[in-house]
Amino acid sequence: MRKIAITTVAIAGVALMALSGCSARNSTSGSDASGFKAGSIIGVALPDKTSENWVLAGKLFTDDLTKAGFKPDVLYAPSANTASEQANQISTMNTKGAKVLIIGAFDGKQLGSQVKDAHTNGAKVIAYDRIIEDSKDVDYYVAYNNEKVGELQGQALLDGMKSRFPDAKTYNIELFSGASTDPNAAVFFDGAMKILQPKIDDGTLKVVSGQTKIDQTQTTGWLAANAQTRMDTLLAGNYSGSTVLNGVLSPNDTLARAIITSIQNAGKDKPVMPVVTGQDSEAASIPLIMSGVQYSTINKDTTKLVEQAVSMVKQLAAGKKATTNSPATDNGSVKVPTYYLPPQLVTKDNAAESYKNNPTLEALTK
Ligand code: BGC
Repeated sequence: MRKIAITTVAIAGVALMALSGCSARNSTSGSDASGFKAGSIIGVALPDKTSENWVLAGKLFTDDLTKAGFKPDVLYAPSANTASEQANQISTMNTKGAKVLIIGAFDGKQLGSQVKDAHTNGAKVIAYDRIIEDSKDVDYYVAYNNEKVGELQGQALLDGMKSRFPDAKTYNIELFSGASTDPNAAVFFDGAMKILQPKIDDGTLKVVSGQTKIDQTQTTGWLAANAQTRMDTLLAGNYSGSTVLNGVLSPNDTLARAIITSIQNAGKDKPVMPVVTGQDSEAASIPLIMSGVQYSTINKDTTKLVEQAVSMVKQLAAGKKATTNSPATDNGSVKVPTYYLPPQLVTKDNAAESYKNNPTLEALTK
């Protein structure tokens, strides 16, 4: 029994060394303060499943970390408004002795004491997709470039309206943002407003409701039902009679589909469907994009983001610094070393090309 256990650990150690390309001393020495050994627990704390990318990330982390010789402990925050429950999950990961915490925060501001404890235990903290705010105990940030996502959304809204309403000189629009607990929501919104604000200022764009501030546009919990209710209210109050709605800035696909439903229920999809943006390349949105109902989405391949996070873990296990490729991200307390992947805008014109490495999504473009 004992012999088998030792052999298993040895094999796992060799596998880890091969994958991380590191020296025997670093990868196998549990006492090396700056590295850790095969079989170590890696905690992965993800928010609730507000979009498909989070669902996929959990599965990929489990598979990829296991393949790399680690012991993944992957947990989701149970449901909306559960910052404290996610904090408890992370505390338990600390107690179990996780060597790295990979955290997609439910609330970017509520995890200060958990990541501090992780550092006290000698563990490393990687913020995944969402930055952890106002804490010096964050070692790395890995994400798609969120500001760029917002800029692409803002530009897509403008370009889409130009092509769908070729005779219009000005455009009526409404703006949506994500959950105020998610730091990305403001980054997406600010990125989009970099493109849209000058056009609001020069009169090309009119936000008919007048709701242009982020706190007027947010969607509690990133929940579709909340976006649909707000869109219903905006349409009823501002678009009665023949007032045309030309476009809506939607921060992701889940909310885009809710906004589209509201537009269709109000009959504002005729004679021309307004331009609605999105993000995440969710399977349910691809057919809508191909048929012109949703204008755009963003391709942020979750497989690649998880791979990047796992490659960071391998480097840390080897006692090395993780690779970064971008200016550090200011989290309000420190500048966090950052690895950004590039997001890609997708419309029906480039969907097949953009998803050519993803057979499931590519099939939906046919
Ligand atoms: C992610 C988006 C996602 C949203 C809601 C954000 O933090 O970056 O991809 O749509 O959360 O789940």
